[in-house]
Amino acid sequence: MATTRASTSGRVSQAFTILVFFFFFFSTLTASVEAAGRGVNNDKKGDGLGASFIFGDSLVDAGNNNYLSTLSRANMQPNGIDFKASGGNPTGRFTNGRTIGDIVGEELGSANYAIPFLAPNATGKALLAGVNYASGGGGIMNGTGRIFVNRLGMDVQVDFFNTTRKQFDDLLGKEKAKEYISKKSIFSITIGANDFLNNYLFPLLSVGTRFTQTPDDFIGDMLEHLRDQLTRLYQMDARKFVIGNVGPIGCIPYQKTINQLKEDECVDLANKLANQYNVKLKSLLDELNKKLPGAMFVHANVYDLVMELITNYKEYGFISATKACCGNGGQYAGIIPCGPTSSLCEERDKYVFWDPYHPSEAANVIIAKQLLYGDIKVISPVNLSKLRDL
Ligand SMILES: *[C@@H]1O[C@H](CO)[C@@H](O)[C@H](O)[C@H]1NC(C)=O
Ligand SMILES: *[C@@H]1O[C@H](CO)[C@@H](O)[C@H](O)[C@H]1NC(C)=O
Ligand SMILES: *[C@@H]1O[C@H](CO)[C@@H](O)[C@H](O)[C@H]1NC(C)=O
Ligand SMILES: *[C@@H]1O[C@H](CO)[C@@H](O)[C@H](O)[C@H]1NC(C)=O
Repeated sequence: MATTRASTSGRVSQAFTILVFFFFFFSTLTASVEAAGRGVNNDKKGDGLGASFIFGDSLVDAGNNNYLSTLSRANMQPNGIDFKASGGNPTGRFTNGRTIGDIVGEELGSANYAIPFLAPNATGKALLAGVNYASGGGGIMNGTGRIFVNRLGMDVQVDFFNTTRKQFDDLLGKEKAKEYISKKSIFSITIGANDFLNNYLFPLLSVGTRFTQTPDDFIGDMLEHLRDQLTRLYQMDARKFVIGNVGPIGCIPYQKTINQLKEDECVDLANKLANQYNVKLKSLLDELNKKLPGAMFVHANVYDLVMELITNYKEYGFISATKACCGNGGQYAGIIPCGPTSSLCEERDKYVFWDPYHPSEAANVIIAKQLLYGDIKVISPVNLSKLRDL
């Protein structure tokens, strides 16, 4: 089937350099808007979750990129239009409402959404509900996302957690901090898509890599790095982990549009790479579960969950799993990222995809509920409601 041109799990086209400049122009025109807010209901379980520490890319970025000079941004309307805590204003989230990270934290009883690490008010007691380190354009490999000029890769995110870790000692005292982090907190990691879309598959930057490295070698490198990153978190007392695999990146509206695919087609190469990575990710987590005493690494099968939504979207009440609700360009509004001049669909909760790259809040809710309460086909060895109570 169609050849892959690569996109971004994030946003900008790379095949068409000109779009990068368009987007840059666009972002600089847009006033920056405050990061995510409080106001999460806390009426769930008794003592609930301690902290939710969120690592990853634009799927879970809650505003860090607002504080970077980067081309990967979402703090412009109509992003956030359904985000209640901000009154419908953009926060930097790359979707219309809550991310999967927000929904999971809320359901598990967090007092607030995890606060973006780079937000000025990420200090003092505000940290206790959790911190979000995720960054649009970020990946496992340090070089991933260079096209955006700036983003926080996973190495840097883990360094930032080291800073937070010390702050927790100061806030709670060493002993209590250790207990809070190891027993009551969940570390979620949603990363990897950009390593393909904005690194290995990226036409201009990857030429060198792709000629010298087979997919197997590249994926091997990714998992080596991820092993180090997870181990470092463990060394800083993280014990409860959930790691998402890479979704069907060949099925996003951007890919379907630039490859001029039919509604029910996806780009083979991108999905194949995702699958290849996902198989090895599962083995890595099995290995870490045996090797690191007291830790639980939970595997979240995001690929199958999203694929199921795309394939059977009608059964879930969606009218499209192909077209971006907010976007422009081509058959599926899949070329130009969501912004003030985009066309916007009427029923935002009836689209699987909010923009050319990211799921809508309605899709995020379905995915999050499965991760929280689903069975071992989607989340193993335990679901997140169980992980919290361990
Ligand atoms: C941090 O600041 C933002 C913007 O002023 C605000 O919306 C948010 O509620 C604050 N968060 C916390 C936890 O104080
Ligand atoms: C990774 O990138 C950051 C900047 O984003 C840089 O400070 C750091 O030195 C890099 N690390 C490695 C191992 O190259
Ligand atoms: C955390 O930072 C300290 C320096 O402040 C360093 O010695 C330590 O190795 C870091 N820990 C990890 C796991 O990166
Ligand atoms: C999810 O975990 C809960 C425990 O919190 C358990 O009762 C339930 O059976 C699990 N769901 C599935 C489908 O395995």
